[in-house]
Amino acid sequence: MRSVKADNARADSARHLLSITDLGRDEIAGVLSTAEGFEAIGEREIKKVPTLRGRTVVNLFYESSTRTRVSFEIAAKRLSADVINVSSTASSVEKGESLRDTARTLRALGADAIVLRHPAAGAPAFLARLTDACVINAGDGAHEHPTQALLDLYTVQQHFGRVEGLRVGIVGDIAHSRVARSGALGFRRMGADVVLIAPPTLMPPGIDALGCRTTYDLDAELAELDVVYVLRMQRERHREPLLPSEREFWDGYALTTRRLGQLRPEAVVMHAGPMNRGVEIDWDAAESEAALIEAQVSAGVAVRMAMLYLLLGGQASEVAS
Ligand code: CP
Repeated sequence: MRSVKADNARADSARHLLSITDLGRDEIAGVLSTAEGFEAIGEREIKKVPTLRGRTVVNLFYESSTRTRVSFEIAAKRLSADVINVSSTASSVEKGESLRDTARTLRALGADAIVLRHPAAGAPAFLARLTDACVINAGDGAHEHPTQALLDLYTVQQHFGRVEGLRVGIVGDIAHSRVARSGALGFRRMGADVVLIAPPTLMPPGIDALGCRTTYDLDAELAELDVVYVLRMQRERHREPLLPSEREFWDGYALTTRRLGQLRPEAVVMHAGPMNRGVEIDWDAAESEAALIEAQVSAGVAVRMAMLYLLLGGQASEVAS
């Protein structure tokens, strides 16, 4: 029986995915090629392989989610793992149980991997020190969402055949977006040229540490971009009013039909979802042929299969693409 190694268990980045920066360029390329190999399973009549039979994956979600939770569940089931979903609203978390005690309980129950979404930045890193299960960050506050970055890279790679050299504009509520942070780091690591575009109140101090160019002027960038990555306005994380009005944000930063017309013919539109149509993107832009938004969702399954497989002991070279 595997023991529960408590507080002195060391977080080991090779066993966890806490940040996109846990992965070097070659490792990201390995995840993407492994995902490509797994994508074919989703096209079969029987969408299942025995790869993780006997392993247990726990989805531990302290915040709401549709795409991430469901795609991790589908990914684990396609690999034949047992999957348990635990949400803070229907578990002993509601009775005041700490993350520490929840982690130890899940490990004692035999979890091999814990997929954690939590409102606090750093919660997955904290969890990784408490358990010898693999920990995957499924979004921690405004900090990181590494599997979102991986599926975005996969989507772009599949569409353009490359990431290197592409010009990626990430637009909107940069200050509160874990998608922006992981995405900027991931796209840069894979050789894209990233510009962060936001009004001054949504451009956080210290953003220069990501090593990306920043600007307040979306219209000046549009004609140069290959990828326009629109961010959700994260109203639930705004502790004070940060915009003069939503109308001014719309006028300056929303991806509207007019702005869609200013893009290069081969440019694409991305959004991690859920979308606030009428706030950061209009209906036509979201539904346009340039939009890769559904492809992003689909990519989530293959990429999360790849991550579970690799963290639980598989080798990228063993999955044919
Ligand atoms: N992109 C994303 O994280 O969506 P969910 O909040 O629905 O998981």
